[in-house]
Amino acid sequence: MKVIRTGAEWNPLWLKHLQNTHQIGFVPTMGALHEGHLDLVKKSISQTDVTVVSIFVNPTQFNNPEDFAKYPVTVDADLEKLAKAGVDYVFLPSVDAIYPTETHLKFDFGDLERVLEGQFRPGHFNGVGIVVSKLFHLIRPHVAFFGQKDLQQVGIIKRLVRDLSFDLSLEIVPTRREADGLAMSSRNMRLKPEERKQALILFQSLEKAKSDLLTGKNWLEIRNQIEVAFQKTPLAKLEYFELIHPESFQSYSQFDPNGKSSICVAAFIGEIRLIDNMPVIP
Ligand code: PAJ
Repeated sequence: MKVIRTGAEWNPLWLKHLQNTHQIGFVPTMGALHEGHLDLVKKSISQTDVTVVSIFVNPTQFNNPEDFAKYPVTVDADLEKLAKAGVDYVFLPSVDAIYPTETHLKFDFGDLERVLEGQFRPGHFNGVGIVVSKLFHLIRPHVAFFGQKDLQQVGIIKRLVRDLSFDLSLEIVPTRREADGLAMSSRNMRLKPEERKQALILFQSLEKAKSDLLTGKNWLEIRNQIEVAFQKTPLAKLEYFELIHPESFQSYSQFDPNGKSSICVAAFIGEIRLIDNMPVIP
């Protein structure tokens, strides 16, 4: 496994792989890697000839400076996991390599900006759009892998690829969970033991709401009950709990068993903000 730090280092390697008609798979990450990240990596290794994983904690997508300052960094352990998984290249750029000058360009993802994560984390998707565009230009992969865990990010990346004609295909990988159901996330490392217990309310409320919907209960009633359950969980603070269309991300006020639906949740557990989602399939 080779660690590269600049586009200039990657260019001759990219050319060599292209001349050998290799398919290049790319997994962008912010490090602090867990089994969920490794699912993306394994899928890339099985579906392409060469796998590049980037580790870059992107400052421009953090709307909360403290969240950025406290984002876990575990580079040595990450490199060990990636080498063991059989990754070919790790792209580990400095902030200056990605942002040599101030970025003036701004993305507006339209209706996707104004709901869910877009509404609660102003500027977040602009930062994601900027860094993912830069990474796509630098690495020039044939296939890029993203997790369903960040469902709205998938919608953003699909729009980015379509609107800017990036010549690559996207592969979306299901959410990996802990044994008790908590969605794996780098931020879980920061949960104290009591917070870790109460964090389970995200998964449990998704499961409960899904099964209630499938037995025909009214969505707004379901949501009220979930809000009460969050109020009774002392360390939890709910930001949103929405039934949405998983491509337009617009909210439904009632369940349509013939349409596509997912439930999306965001909540603080102590100081840690977590998100999760679940498809509802009749
Ligand atoms: P990060 O949170 O490190 O996630 C990297 C990739 O792993 C994303 O595509 C994310 O959806 C996926 N992922 C995270 N947890 C997962 C889980 N439990 N199961 C399956 N996949 C999971 O998302 C980002 O970084 C950044 O926004 C990035 C795209 C790298 C741009 O900076």
